[in-house]
Amino acid sequence: MPEPLLIACLFATLLVPNTFSRETSYKHRAALDADGKYDVKWRFDGATISFEVAVATRGYVGFGFSPSGAMARSDLVIGGVSGGRPYLQDYFADASRMVHRDPQQSYRLEYAWENDTHTVLGFSRDLLTCDPNDKDITESTVRVIWAYHSEDVGPLGPMYHGVNRGRKSVRLLNPAKGTAVPDGTRFFDLRNSQVPVPSKDTTYWCQLFRFPEVQKKHHVIRIEPLIQKGHENLVHHILLYQCDRDLDEDDLGTGHECYHQNMPDSFQTCETVVFAWAIGGEGFTYPPHAGLSIGTSIDPFFVLMEIHYDNPALHQGRFLKNMTIFTFECHCTQECLQESLDHEMPSGIRVFAVLLHAHLAGRAIRTRHFRGQKELRPLAHDSEFDFNFQEFLALSEERLLLPGDHLITECKYNTKSRKQMTWGGLSTRDEMCLSYLLYYPRINLARCESLPEIKGQLKFIGVKEIQMPVRSWPFVIKSPKRYNNLSFTEAMDKFRWSKKRGEAFNEVVLQLKMNVRCSKRGQEEWSVSEDPYRPRRTSLLLKYLSSAEDRSITMKTETRGSVVHIPVFILHVCSMVWLTLGWF
Ligand SMILES: *[C@@H]1O[C@H](CO)[C@@H](O)[C@H](O)[C@H]1NC(C)=O
Ligand SMILES: *[C@@H]1O[C@H](CO)[C@@H](O)[C@H](O)[C@H]1NC(C)=O
Ligand SMILES: *[C@@H]1O[C@H](CO)[C@@H](O)[C@H](O)[C@H]1NC(C)=O
Repeated sequence: MPEPLLIACLFATLLVPNTFSRETSYKHRAALDADGKYDVKWRFDGATISFEVAVATRGYVGFGFSPSGAMARSDLVIGGVSGGRPYLQDYFADASRMVHRDPQQSYRLEYAWENDTHTVLGFSRDLLTCDPNDKDITESTVRVIWAYHSEDVGPLGPMYHGVNRGRKSVRLLNPAKGTAVPDGTRFFDLRNSQVPVPSKDTTYWCQLFRFPEVQKKHHVIRIEPLIQKGHENLVHHILLYQCDRDLDEDDLGTGHECYHQNMPDSFQTCETVVFAWAIGGEGFTYPPHAGLSIGTSIDPFFVLMEIHYDNPALHQGRFLKNMTIFTFECHCTQECLQESLDHEMPSGIRVFAVLLHAHLAGRAIRTRHFRGQKELRPLAHDSEFDFNFQEFLALSEERLLLPGDHLITECKYNTKSRKQMTWGGLSTRDEMCLSYLLYYPRINLARCESLPEIKGQLKFIGVKEIQMPVRSWPFVIKSPKRYNNLSFTEAMDKFRWSKKRGEAFNEVVLQLKMNVRCSKRGQEEWSVSEDPYRPRRTSLLLKYLSSAEDRSITMKTETRGSVVHIPVFILHVCSMVWLTLGWF
């Protein structure tokens, strides 16, 4: 029996408080603020959800759901205990953040009490209320907003809460599974020390580590982030790559900027992602029958930890308003899954968790699953994607992937408030469209990538000829005259985009021939053809859109006439990453 091991990634300490609820009827719990003053517990069934909030105040307590994380257009409930009398009312905030009592009261007060320091409210509501002033509660990310005040609600309504407020994204209907590991489980840390984060907005920092030497096969069963307090907004994501076994040990323990020309050579051997963590996520516990194996010759031994630091002080205009949706698709093609699975596991592999990843413009992501002409339920979907909250979502049922299946990661972006084109890239202002899939048993399939070919994009903006031979990216255009001597990116910026052209371009990109890559671990690839078969885009497309996505599509028609800026993807950032696992 292999011994379970616990691993923790990181570079200083912050752990989720380990408090256990005495109230057993609520299954889930989250601390909404950093000081432990605002706690929420909840439980749900197919139709309703019940909450208990416990807050360090004897005045009113506010709780709600917001489309963007801000106050505007949010669904609110405010309650407390005043003179021994419990109260609770349903409110909503309009687009200019004015709070109104909701004519349709959808929240039911179950109980309320206060002691010398705290107010506790128990209340429930339907998941879907059919009230336009309420927010539907779905499996997608939910942006919970909270506030409290030292005074109760008076005759003039709730007084402004000042700084006693905040937001936190959670998944109410599919929260992370339990964090408990067996007593005595061994663990190890991977810690960066003293990383000099430069004063630029994006830094990728890489450092090599060695896993502990174990004499036989072990499995990592849980991975937790360790983030220095106060740096929660700085660390955007962490990736752990498997490196070659015979690399230069002198490079161990030294950190360096990643993707940099002076980066040690041994870093280049680290190609295969073995774990991913992203902002807002907590720890991840593997299901009881699967784990990340270490200790055998094909397991990771040297690993590279890549941390993406994002300097929020240098951010401006992060919040985009007024939806304009650009859809992009990433394919893991039928051929790729046929070729790799036929060779390695003809009976199929099982996916049990998915992490959806995009950057600031990401609004909705899903991983679609096709078998022949049939579309199955999406592997994962989030129609309320929050850049600040990305974590592995355990599937409620494991999904079998068979040779010849086809996966599409579909990302929807809003780039309306941007003056420049959005390109694919590493910075959070560039975009990515990624899903990380955790699966077992381990096969040699690490990455699927696809890119719509560039010729069709050039043709769309009217490029006739480029300067040959192509020596550098972005290459230089020869004709027509209006683009003469411009690089591709400059020409895309020069093109006069309109809403209509943007939509037409989106359609073109979705139909373009694709260049695909189907990668093994390391640098080898499965051989697949350049222009693969892909499932037809059918009316099925709308079938799985949740109500929230439907709304954003309605907003799209509302913004007719406005100018849009269109993202285009160039780099190899559109991919699915397969995280291979051992098997207990
Ligand atoms: C009041 O209730 C809260 C919430 O249950 C609890 O944490 C706190 O210890 C209580 N305070 C007192 C003084 O009893
Ligand atoms: C969206 O933009 C349009 C046109 O630019 C404007 O008329 C409309 O009021 C905006 N809607 C919102 C909700 O900001
Ligand atoms: C284009 O750029 C090249 C090299 O920078 C320069 O020699 C040439 O004169 C330019 N042509 C025009 C038409 O600007």
